Amino acid sequence: MSVRDLTAEDFVVYKTMTSGAFGGPFDPSSPGAARDFSPGQTAIGIDAASVPGGLDGVIAAGARIRHDRVTLGGGVARCGGVAGLAVHPAHRGDGLFGQLLTAVIARCDAEGLPLSMLYPSNPAIYRRYGYQVVARSESLIVPLVDLQRIAAVPDRRLVPVTEATMPRLRELYHRLSAHDNGMLRREAPLFDEGLPGGGWSALLLEDGSGTDHGYLSWTRRGEAADGVGLEVHELMGRTRADRLALLRSLGSWSTVTELARLRVRSEDPVLDALPGGGARPDPDPVPLVMMRVIDTAATLRARPAPGGLHGAVRLLVEDDTVPAGTCHGAGTFLVSAADGRISAGPDDGTTEDLLGTIRLDIHAVSLLLVGGRRLADARRLDLTAVADPAAETFLDALLAGPRPSVLDAF
Ligand SMILES: CC(C)(COP(=O)(O)OP(=O)(O)OC[C@H]1O[C@@H](n2cnc3c(N)ncnc32)[C@H](O)[C@@H]1OP(=O)(O)O)[C@@H](O)C(=O)NCCC(=O)NCCS
Repeated sequence: MSVRDLTAEDFVVYKTMTSGAFGGPFDPSSPGAARDFSPGQTAIGIDAASVPGGLDGVIAAGARIRHDRVTLGGGVARCGGVAGLAVHPAHRGDGLFGQLLTAVIARCDAEGLPLSMLYPSNPAIYRRYGYQVVARSESLIVPLVDLQRIAAVPDRRLVPVTEATMPRLRELYHRLSAHDNGMLRREAPLFDEGLPGGGWSALLLEDGSGTDHGYLSWTRRGEAADGVGLEVHELMGRTRADRLALLRSLGSWSTVTELARLRVRSEDPVLDALPGGGARPDPDPVPLVMMRVIDTAATLRARPAPGGLHGAVRLLVEDDTVPAGTCHGAGTFLVSAADGRISAGPDDGTTEDLLGTIRLDIHAVSLLLVGGRRLADARRLDLTAVADPAAETFLDALLAGPRPSVLDAF
């Protein structure tokens, strides 16, 4: 049995299989039904006819790889987002999952995607293949009455987001998330350039000269039993005062609804601007985000080095989750930082001026290389992270930054 590319001719069969797995209607006979995979992604699958007892014209397993880009502490890395991965119910329990996921990893490598990301329903099955939980999408329930007392911020006014002003919001999002780790760039063709629709609304915060300083986006919900009338997708401001101005605007809804659900990034700076102690964690399950390093050297090179950090280390990466040669995760690398840039490549035997050696397994690499964690965090999770002290200090400094956050859309 082999994994092959799925084309437009396979779309209806694949889509029927995945809508059966995940729920949700798919009627190929309806005039508006999609006929092909959306651009910006690669679809792969296994024909049922190639597995024992399988029928012609049935896809036994399939997945899509979205060609995204994510921020890495001031740099950007290409990232294969795994979506719609499913095995036909007739072929579950026969090991197709592992074959398909190994093929996904190999395909990300072949397409120059040094990272891969997914939202797991069952993290354990992905962990076996080197994916590591790096983030969780957290939300807070905020009493709007708490926000009513926020004072007006001088030289700031609000502008509606329309088709005409949406490009300003996109530009600001790129600017304000550039130094985060793991944030999707949300670019075409995977993301529409226009307004998201579906009740999505937003305001830009500008100063008297028209320069943008922040934005707030939300969807108004009908009054629900939980009292949450506003789903706030994002609140981003350049400064604390800007975030306060946006929270003040949110407070203006307190006459019509009691609570807002506010989606936040890891260590989101808005937490420092929230007045009062009334906010509480959203009781709904927290979606997890897993990432896997596909190409260790390329992932390291994608981020800038912190200014003033100089040095070099030898990095040994072990990967027993996929057959050797599946991707460029494992190997022995020389990693150095100088003049704000990281160099990473195969070990050429240099022994001079090395700060020492670091040995990581692929799980630790997937945890650490997306930034915001230290080798000690990997050891706390029982992952392999062994290092000479000076080398450890160097890598911790290289990968410093906020913990990764992934917010899937505007
Ligand atoms: C989850 C799914 C992809 C697994 O595919 P599969 O080919 O049946 O899995 P495999 O036979 O290769 O089994 C892989 C391992 O995962 C385990 N596993 C499979 N489904 C599982 C589940 N729902 N919960 C816990 N473990 C599961 C198996 O026991 C097996 O472990 P083992 O090797 O120790 O026996 C498949 O059941 C499916 O398509 N489910 C519906 C869609 C879905 O959940 N997709 C994943 C979305 S993130």
